[in-house]
Amino acid sequence: MKRIAVLTSGGDSPGMNACIRAVVRQALAMGIDPYGVRRGFEGLIDQEIVPMTSRSVGSIMRHGGTALLTARSQRFRMPAVRTEAVQGLRDHGIEGLIVIGGNGSFQGALKVAELGIPTIGVPASIDNDIGGTDMAIGVDTCLNTILDSVDKIKDTAGSSPRPFLIEVMGRHSGYLALLAGIAGGAELVVTPEQKMTLEEVASEVESAYHRGKPLFIALIAEGAAVRAADVCEYLKTRYPVEGAGPRLTILGHVQRGGSPSAFDRILATRLGVAAVKALAAGESSVMVGIRSGVVGTTPLVESLATCPTLDPDLFEMSRALAA
Ligand code: F6P
Repeated sequence: MKRIAVLTSGGDSPGMNACIRAVVRQALAMGIDPYGVRRGFEGLIDQEIVPMTSRSVGSIMRHGGTALLTARSQRFRMPAVRTEAVQGLRDHGIEGLIVIGGNGSFQGALKVAELGIPTIGVPASIDNDIGGTDMAIGVDTCLNTILDSVDKIKDTAGSSPRPFLIEVMGRHSGYLALLAGIAGGAELVVTPEQKMTLEEVASEVESAYHRGKPLFIALIAEGAAVRAADVCEYLKTRYPVEGAGPRLTILGHVQRGGSPSAFDRILATRLGVAAVKALAAGESSVMVGIRSGVVGTTPLVESLATCPTLDPDLFEMSRALAA
């Protein structure tokens, strides 16, 4: 294999740059010419394919986001568009593609492989909802960003006690809410995996109050059956006292940014190197991931068919320790 390309796709996550850097420098170390595709599959369609050098990835590792830019491409869903885009890779002499992204990006990666260009996926998404890997690139940094906010909100919550409802990202997964809840000592976590009602959330607030807790923090996943904003409005009807009512914080895209943690930089580097080695070894349609500390590959179809579940012990732990 003489020439490969790398792209980032879907929602960016901290550590994507470290992965791009690892891919480029590992390829060069193996005598392979690395190319970058800008704006994910959108850039593939528009042939935004640029040669990468060791210098073009210098100093990018410490930055969040992605230097190659990213996009969610609707156009790539069209077969004729895809065929032409992949022909563009061939026209550039590119013999293999590395796709850094999440589940949606891996659907695109599979299509590229079906059209004859060997393709490897690298899991990167703050949601940690990708089958075949214990951790995706960006999750650790995101958890630390959430924790920073939780700790700060706790300062004010402890000074002027009232219920604080914090909405976190995660799409259909409650991973971020649950893990940040455990690490941040939240009184309650609400995730799509449990089916809590507004009344049940309110009774948790009351129970905490009766137990003499000086503050109440709930971490509510954006995909939960009850939305944080609705919980807040509901609680206002229960605690109508001026100034003592509930407060809502939607963390939003702040969770996706920031300098990647050491964990994410190392994970991204290991997976980027593994992806290049897998391509060079003739593999295709697989995702490189990490399980129990060991880097390995999983067929993309298997990864896409697996919906990671949250360990019930973690829910139990979170509840027990919020006593
Ligand atoms: O998948 C990552 C993620 O940040 C989700 O947690 C969130 O639901 C979504 O992307 C937000 O997407 P966008 O940046 O397109 O608004």
